[in-house]
Amino acid sequence: MTLPLTSEPIPRQWDRRGLPAWTYHSPALFDLEREHLFLNHWQVAGHVSDIPAPGDWLAFDLLDERAVILRGQDGEIRAFMNLCRHRGARVVEGAQGKCRGALVCPFHGWVYNLDGSLRGVSRPETFGEGVDKAAFGLKPLELEIFGGFLFLRFRRGPQPSVAEMLAPYAADFQAWQSGNLLPVDVAGWSADLPVNWKSVRDVDNEGYHVALAHPSLQDLYGRDYRDLYLPGGLHVSYGFYGDRPGRRWSVRNYVRHSPVREGLPPHLQRTWAYYGLFPNTVIAFTPESAQFYHDLPVSPGQTRLTGRLYRLANEDRQTRAARYLAQRIDRDTSAEDQQLSIWSNESMRSDHFEGFHLSDLEYGLRRHHDQLRDLLPVMREDHAPPESQIPALNDELLCARTGQA
Ligand code: FES
Ligand SMILES: [Fe+2]
Repeated sequence: MTLPLTSEPIPRQWDRRGLPAWTYHSPALFDLEREHLFLNHWQVAGHVSDIPAPGDWLAFDLLDERAVILRGQDGEIRAFMNLCRHRGARVVEGAQGKCRGALVCPFHGWVYNLDGSLRGVSRPETFGEGVDKAAFGLKPLELEIFGGFLFLRFRRGPQPSVAEMLAPYAADFQAWQSGNLLPVDVAGWSADLPVNWKSVRDVDNEGYHVALAHPSLQDLYGRDYRDLYLPGGLHVSYGFYGDRPGRRWSVRNYVRHSPVREGLPPHLQRTWAYYGLFPNTVIAFTPESAQFYHDLPVSPGQTRLTGRLYRLANEDRQTRAARYLAQRIDRDTSAEDQQLSIWSNESMRSDHFEGFHLSDLEYGLRRHHDQLRDLLPVMREDHAPPESQIPALNDELLCARTGQA
């Protein structure tokens, strides 16, 4: 299979050890990750089709920050802090919903228009001079739509716009018609895992484990699975299937029902494709479905995996059957990966763990770790620095690198 995208080569010699164990359970490092990796990097929160009509909203919570993405009366989609300007209550409750014409804060009844502006407050005469409506709208957040997916960030950070960052994915997303997807009936899922978020990423960032750990995936596409390392830290994986019927029930039936989508270029026709977004997100496509999933850190030892599933707008019966089978294979795969991430994370506490020894097939971990070390150079320390010194040491290392000491 010839691919339009070309992978950066893997060097002959590279440091195969991975991040040191302490980085997987340090509370001080976790605080730095919150500041420098999560709140200021783009996060995918849904798809335009999740909120098709004015008043439809999606919520997105991350590390004490919380957003609401809302379609206005004018059809525009905007993101705001889900935080009432009176005393900080949530203006919408839950993961997803619909409001009629306005958001009404459940605490004291302040009312916001669908463009985030403050419409009015209850008992305005009790606020002395009154409340300046222009000054108390919901706080807007950056929002960008790429291929129909909704991206937001809580603060500006080192990443450029999503369109610029994900430009190498644009042709594939267009071929997948990613803007045309619809949510499946029960779109969202989540699972809480007792691990550091990096242990989830470490499992997901390589295909070396597919042969043993994922019998269904191995049966489906294990003979031709490729990781592509693209400029800008991007990482795409393609699994090509259909060269044989499949031995397992779900795989055999999937291969039989999976539609050949006219209009897809050859490299996507019988392909499961995974597009990585640093630091914690993957958007994946099969010929009959799409999804995104990400590991959202909760604490150094707790991670919430969440994702949303989508289908083609013009789905016929055969395509729907294939989608169900794909989801079944995926559900098994996800359970297998969750167990692996738990074992990997546990080992970080063992006195006898001496670090990873990575294969070339696990080069994706190395790249991810390099990106992390670049932003948080304290992760280069082989041994755990005293917790209280981690922020200062990280600053020092950053300054030394930029020559601003
Ligand atoms: S906190 Fe929203 S109205 Fe008081
Ligand atoms: Fe896996």
